[in-house]
Amino acid sequence: METMRTEIAKINEFDIDMERIRYAGQILRKGGLVAFPTETVYGLGADALQAQASKKIYAAKGRPSDNPLIVHICCIGDIGKIVSDLPEKAKLLADAFWPGPLTMILPKSGMVPYETTGGLDTVAVRMPSHPIALALIREGGGAVAAPSANTSGRPSPTLAEHVYEDLKGRIPLILDGGEVGIGIESTIIDLTEIVPMILRPGFITAEMIADIVGEVRVDPGILAEHPVQKPKAPGMKYRHYAPRADLFLVEGEAAAVADKINQLAREKNAQGKKVGVIAAQETRKYYKESRVWSIGEREDEETIAHNLYRILRELDKSDVDIIYSESFSTPHMGQAVRNRLLKAAGYQVLKVN
Ligand code: TXA
Ligand code: MG
Repeated sequence: METMRTEIAKINEFDIDMERIRYAGQILRKGGLVAFPTETVYGLGADALQAQASKKIYAAKGRPSDNPLIVHICCIGDIGKIVSDLPEKAKLLADAFWPGPLTMILPKSGMVPYETTGGLDTVAVRMPSHPIALALIREGGGAVAAPSANTSGRPSPTLAEHVYEDLKGRIPLILDGGEVGIGIESTIIDLTEIVPMILRPGFITAEMIADIVGEVRVDPGILAEHPVQKPKAPGMKYRHYAPRADLFLVEGEAAAVADKINQLAREKNAQGKKVGVIAAQETRKYYKESRVWSIGEREDEETIAHNLYRILRELDKSDVDIIYSESFSTPHMGQAVRNRLLKAAGYQVLKVN
């Protein structure tokens, strides 16, 4: 692919430089790409209604063309352009959670090209809450297709530096709004079936959704250790976030997990292999003989989701050969974190007790 200069423009979300946003919006309107922060992860934006613009996203990321994009809107009034039907449950969920980290799958309108939906007749829609994202979407024409701004297969970016690392030379502009808040991608809910189904767990949980619309199902493909079932979101079937080193998730009671990881680490060290451990702040002290990456606090579980992708990137830069990770089945974000760790580990789980 031809290389170009990638500009990084710093933007303060509390005092947005509209000059810069208008410039970025111009790039989108002309069919170009702009990376920008959202409250979940950085996105790689293009005008969702221009087939040629969406195609550029796939090329820049090296993304398989059957993996559809999420269309980001800034105003509820714009959803009629994107979807052909807005069921009552979708209205209720939009009222409850938008702007915010929830993506809804709905039937697409004729205006949305198949290049944006990976050939599907449904479309993923979300209204993010990040002020820079909202301003850019408005200036960019109102419908911005944006996957996470990583190269395909790498962890989603939580910093502008991560975007630069992956997409330098392939896109003209990155809006740098600093570190994102949540750190893992939005919850995806499919509203094209009678009972809504979660296709990807995130900050908005099944319980939170059930409180608004009643019965909710969770795609069995997303938490299965051996995913026999093909997940319904095309992107969930790819091995994502795979670190360079071999990653194992060790699950069980905390002391037993620590014993197991320490025993395995000694064995691997004896074979001349370098071991890294991903542990919570509360339990990192158990791993005195290994290099530990402290991911966050179980007591403040949002820190775990927030740091996960940054730590996977740091591990890639280190020289470790094998990674053992504790598991984090915390009440709110536990399911989302476990889903991402399972994918990163290629579903390699060691259970101890
Ligand atoms: O938090 C997020 O959602 C971020 C930020 C940038 O908004 N975006 C994001 O996009 O995570 P991406 O492309 O990395 O993940 C989108 C997921 C993929 O797994 C894709 O297969 C699924 O959404 N998806 C998109 N459209 C779909 C559709 N019509 N039916 C089923 N799954 C769909
Ligand atoms: Mg992604």
